[in-house]
Amino acid sequence: MTEHFLDVKDLKIHFPTDDGLVRSVDGLSFQLERGKTLGIVGESGSGKSVTSLGILGLHKGGRARVSGEIWLDGEELVGASAEHVRRLRGKKMAMIFQDPLSSMHPYYTVGAQIIEAYRIHHKVTKKVARKHAIEMLGRVGIPQPDRRVDSYPHEFSGGMRQRAMIAMALSCDPELLIADEPTTALDVTVQAQILDLMRDLQRDFNAALIIITHDLGVVAELSDDILVMYAGKAIEYGAAEDIFERPEHPYTWGLLGSMPRLDREPTERLLPIKGSPPSLINVPPGCAFHPRCAYAGRTGGLSTTAVPELAETEGGHLVRCHLSREQRREVWATEIKPNLESA
Ligand SMILES: Nc1ncnc2c1ncn2[C@@H]1O[C@H](COP(=O)(O)OP(=O)(O)O)[C@@H](O)[C@H]1O
Ligand code: SF4
Ligand SMILES: [Mg+2]
Repeated sequence: MTEHFLDVKDLKIHFPTDDGLVRSVDGLSFQLERGKTLGIVGESGSGKSVTSLGILGLHKGGRARVSGEIWLDGEELVGASAEHVRRLRGKKMAMIFQDPLSSMHPYYTVGAQIIEAYRIHHKVTKKVARKHAIEMLGRVGIPQPDRRVDSYPHEFSGGMRQRAMIAMALSCDPELLIADEPTTALDVTVQAQILDLMRDLQRDFNAALIIITHDLGVVAELSDDILVMYAGKAIEYGAAEDIFERPEHPYTWGLLGSMPRLDREPTERLLPIKGSPPSLINVPPGCAFHPRCAYAGRTGGLSTTAVPELAETEGGHLVRCHLSREQRREVWATEIKPNLESA
């Protein structure tokens, strides 16, 4: 049992493939309460989407091997039937994807899709459901919602489509909302508008919100907590304030350095992390980040031989690194922070 609204414990999601076992999620634990926002951040291929699909129960019946526990409002979902979790989707939990076109049907109007989603869980007439759909479209900032309700998805701009998908996800009043790269496909201005909208809605609906992104900047202002993922594991986890002001993991330092900045070209990254994330079939031994880490040589060989534990450094702030707390704090204060500030 658990007292948290969402409590993920030692979640593992592995895919057997012809090339070997893909360890997409490898022992992930986190908690989230109603009305709070968790940002899950990591480069492409770190296991973020597989995690979110796992919470929604969308690996059930597939080839994935899922273990661990997912407690949602007192119910355990890893062991629950596919049918039971399917009923919770849309009613208790909903998801917003990067690409609305992939989750909206091209042949039905936006309104028809919101109406259908709503009527699955609410015994109301079409007329009442339509009124509700128009209200929701207005609520997410779509102009003339009473007319746009009859538009098809391709008649919307990217930003409007994303708003419509948010309306669809929220129309059933979910208690847990997972947004997977909700703004990645949008330009910077629209991105900011959608993030503002999500913040407002989050406050009004009091849902628990998970925002998944490769860009720390996206979750900076929205998140209460941040979990940084690398190669299927959490490498740093804590209050957003701790992650931004006192980050202790070399990978998080890298993400901070490579955040796009408003005063520069979006494509221009400040200090990109060298190399690329590992294949999740052949994860490097020891610390999975060691081939890319400038500090691996300072741990007396541990970085290449032993998997570091995710350990508390201070007050709920967890770090997975063999450097001592003193080493990490010194590097941050003397090498990384001054560099970021002057860059
Ligand atoms: N159905 C699947 N079968 C095999 N491997 C998968 C499957 N789904 C995802 N993966 C692998 O799991 C890893 C993590 O993927 P994903 O969660 O999509 O990453 P992210 O969302 O962080 O970019 C990737 O290496 C991906 O290739
Ligand atoms: S354990 Fe070693 S390789 Fe991994 S982040 Fe820490 S210093 Fe770098
Ligand atoms: Mg993804």
